[in-house]
Amino acid sequence: MSILIKNNTEIEKIRIACRLAAEVLEMIKQYVIPGITTGKLDKICHEYIINQQHAIPACFGYKGFPKSVCISINEVVCHGIPNNNDILKHGDIVNIDVTVIKDLYHGDTSKMFLVGQPTIHGQNLCKIAQQSLYLALSIIKPGININKIGYTIQKYVEKNGYSVVRDYCGHGIGRNFHEEPQVLHYYKVKNNELILKKGMIFTVEPMVNLGNHHVYTTKDGWAVKTHDKSLSAQYEHTILVNNTGCEILTLRKDEIIPVLINN
Ligand code: MF3
Ligand code: CO
Ligand code: CO
Repeated sequence: MSILIKNNTEIEKIRIACRLAAEVLEMIKQYVIPGITTGKLDKICHEYIINQQHAIPACFGYKGFPKSVCISINEVVCHGIPNNNDILKHGDIVNIDVTVIKDLYHGDTSKMFLVGQPTIHGQNLCKIAQQSLYLALSIIKPGININKIGYTIQKYVEKNGYSVVRDYCGHGIGRNFHEEPQVLHYYKVKNNELILKKGMIFTVEPMVNLGNHHVYTTKDGWAVKTHDKSLSAQYEHTILVNNTGCEILTLRKDEIIPVLINN
């Protein structure tokens, strides 16, 4: 069996890991307030995953990443390293990206938090980023070309005057953090054709910039920032392709979309 199609045993384990990852985001919400450091938020997530969930924070030590979750503020696009100097303030937009390993299988999800009194710019950007993810989930079903995901996201984001980051993509997930297939969030001509099939599990995780799509890696070797210093927002779900559409494995209680999407 190819790594692309998961069997029922694997699906159940990934489902559990995904639920745990989503529950970390639900748990941390109450702490994401002005005055807290990203280091403290990381510590709370780390201890929750290990002591309450009896699971492993997948980011910790992954390719040398030094912390348990990624926390990316404002113009930081992704892979922000939590630390004790970055203090959240009113109006910040913050992505927390959580990947949990339970019983050898991974679950990966992220969302934006609006800190204190939000700004209109921050609010609108986050709304469009989340809607772009939901729109992509509303076209996923067996038989479609995987390229349609990126096409759908890019068209919606650009129609709203924002841009989609090209340098990072969604990914298959399972025993490994990052597996085949690559899930692009923009349309690339002559990209490898892949037809979605029941049993595939992958993430969709568009990063949306207020300015242009160019980004760079900072000198800590991890945090990625927008080239033009504009705000960036990202939402990520891990999904299972089923018979009629997809199942959102990392759905949270604060979301209003259904867990099973018939497309
Ligand atoms: N969670 C990220 C993703 O969505 C990957 C983070 S890798 C790390 O794929 F090393 F930065 F943690
Ligand atoms: Co991911
Ligand atoms: Co992630």
